[in-house]
Amino acid sequence: MAMKDGDIDERVRALLARMTLEEKIGQMTQIDFSVIALDNVQHGDNPIDRRKLDDAIFNHHIGSILNTPSTPNNRAQPVATWRKITQDIRETAARSRLGIPVIYGIDAIHGATYTEGAVLFPQAISMAATFNPELSYQTGVITAREVKASGLDWNFSPVMDIGRQPLWPRLWETYGEDVHLADAMGGAYIRGHQGDDMAAPDKAPTCLKHYVGYSYPLNGKDRTPAWIGERALRDYFLPGFQSGILAGAPTVMVNSAEVDGIPGHANHQYLTTILRGEMGFKGFTVSDWQDVIRLYTRDKLASSPREAVKIAVMAGIDMSMVPFDYSFYELLLDLAKTGEVPVSRIDEAVSRILRVKYQTGLFDRHEAALPVEGHFATAGAAAVNRQAAREAIILAKNDHQMLPLRKDASILVTGPGANLLSVMNGGWTITWQGDDEALYPKDKLTLLAAIRGKAQGRVTHVGGQRFTDEIDIERAVNEARHHDLVVLALGEPPYTETVGNIDTLALAPVQVQLAKAIFAIGKPVVLVMFGGRPRIITDLAERADAVVLGFLPGMEGGAAMADILFGDVNPSGKLPISYPRAEGDITPYDHKPQAAFEANQYRPLYPFGHGLSYTRFETQGLTLDKSRIHLGESLTVNVKVKNIGERVGKETVLVYLNDAVASVTRPVRQLQAFEKVELKPDEQKTLHFTLKPEAMSFIGLDMKRIVEPGEFSVMVGNETATFTVLPD
Ligand code: BGC
Repeated sequence: MAMKDGDIDERVRALLARMTLEEKIGQMTQIDFSVIALDNVQHGDNPIDRRKLDDAIFNHHIGSILNTPSTPNNRAQPVATWRKITQDIRETAARSRLGIPVIYGIDAIHGATYTEGAVLFPQAISMAATFNPELSYQTGVITAREVKASGLDWNFSPVMDIGRQPLWPRLWETYGEDVHLADAMGGAYIRGHQGDDMAAPDKAPTCLKHYVGYSYPLNGKDRTPAWIGERALRDYFLPGFQSGILAGAPTVMVNSAEVDGIPGHANHQYLTTILRGEMGFKGFTVSDWQDVIRLYTRDKLASSPREAVKIAVMAGIDMSMVPFDYSFYELLLDLAKTGEVPVSRIDEAVSRILRVKYQTGLFDRHEAALPVEGHFATAGAAAVNRQAAREAIILAKNDHQMLPLRKDASILVTGPGANLLSVMNGGWTITWQGDDEALYPKDKLTLLAAIRGKAQGRVTHVGGQRFTDEIDIERAVNEARHHDLVVLALGEPPYTETVGNIDTLALAPVQVQLAKAIFAIGKPVVLVMFGGRPRIITDLAERADAVVLGFLPGMEGGAAMADILFGDVNPSGKLPISYPRAEGDITPYDHKPQAAFEANQYRPLYPFGHGLSYTRFETQGLTLDKSRIHLGESLTVNVKVKNIGERVGKETVLVYLNDAVASVTRPVRQLQAFEKVELKPDEQKTLHFTLKPEAMSFIGLDMKRIVEPGEFSVMVGNETATFTVLPD
């Protein structure tokens, strides 16, 4: 049962009053599992070194532990091992002087990443492509359940920064380039994950990442500076975090890099003035990996590790992901004893941490919250996963109705993405980098296996078992001559964080070579793309008969892709980002007028929101319930959508808004509402959308959110309707 806020505050106050300074600072300390781990690899089913765990809890009073055991290879553990590990920690913490529980945090990025056999969903970029918040909600429900069945407490997900820098190797961890879509998908995920009561046995707290602006590095490399002006920050980057806070997320992880010269971990204005003062966040902030000390070692903002700790804590960091030693604990203790960090600031941070521990029921939990049976890797969860993958896949091109394929066609399947699960899952899959194909489940289907499972004609494969294996191009071409068509699967191998840095969005030359050799013989080609970023495929897409964009559809991606290729499922995914035409083509769809003025154009290979179906839809009859409204009023948009093709299908209706004239330049259009509907042939639905005043608002000259009276246009499909906002 959820405790009332007042009761929690009372208990936090009472507990805090009994805590020593050491116990308080311990709560602010988060360590990596390796700090309490046995050194040897042969650990049986409990890798904890008892002496080290006792030291962490009884001598350093640590508040939190993170990550999967690093022996061997930082990989997923069996669910039973996790339950033993977390039980051991729970029981040890219960024996400490005040019995304060440890909160165990894990990167359950697309499902419970670090538990063997967990249901691993499409990554966020692909979830965004579903335009289906209900599916996002369901993935939140299932992820929380599997995290809790593993005995774990806290999930470092979702990423609420928006993804508009395609080079950035974490683009796929975002919900794409649009603010409204990211809010909707992220908010739904959080609500599913946490429910109404985070203390419920099957619910768990989320963590909004990485506050704020981390996703927009100027040079595209991970953990490098962003240059975001205050207005852009407030218009594009803060809203996702605000939605996450409103959805109830009780923790926030901080930007590892810097914005406008101030590292995230030193930014008092962001961490305290805005996050707390303006956005009303009441939970706790956690640093990212080693980022407090990096204010000294990397950023040269602090002249010593000690000063780094002081700056970070005074800026608003409540918990430090140290994570390999007790330096933060020791330095902060010293800073507190000399009064350089006031105890009031420490009390504030610890109160926030304890509050979340009460809210999530940790004080009353004496064993793993959920039985594994019925709550882990269930058939129902796999079905949700399959549906998510099906709705995530985007049919970008389909000339002469190349797709769906005939089941009796003879098919050559080739390309480095054809026979690997890792290319469809990306990073944070079983291991941090997600690239250890040998560890992937044996019962999940690669694209090749899924095609083989459905095809009635001859299926031949030319390719390697690793992404980097050389493909025998000559053999592939010869085989292509003897088949009806080619399914060519290209893209990127998995990567996470800095490891995924690239200098160009161009596709690897060897892949282009393979593609061109295949095209040269003139057989029909279906180009399938997997990977976390839009790699440049313009020439190839022009020559392919069909193009299907998979991004990172997860463990059911192969099966779902085959469902779509053979027409057992009608595709309904839409692009959550603009797919660039060329390397330097990085204009988002909601660009300012200048970006499409005179010689400039928004001319991506595929625009935001693009995605075809095997049926056709018509949206028409756009009307507004009022043509004039007063400031502060809402408006209803009505539009009809009809399936005018021959197959049942799902269509997402996108409602865009433009503010005709304003004191700050406004985007040419901005998504403000959407709805996905399923329609049978000839079926028509009338949809109603409410545009609230926030939809018409922007950050004005004085950095405050305002609505300026004047004319607005609503755009749906090919239609536009206008309305006027009257002054008060
Ligand atoms: C990443 C975070 C992650 C943390 C803990 C960091 O390197 O930036 O996203 O939650 O590690 O694993």
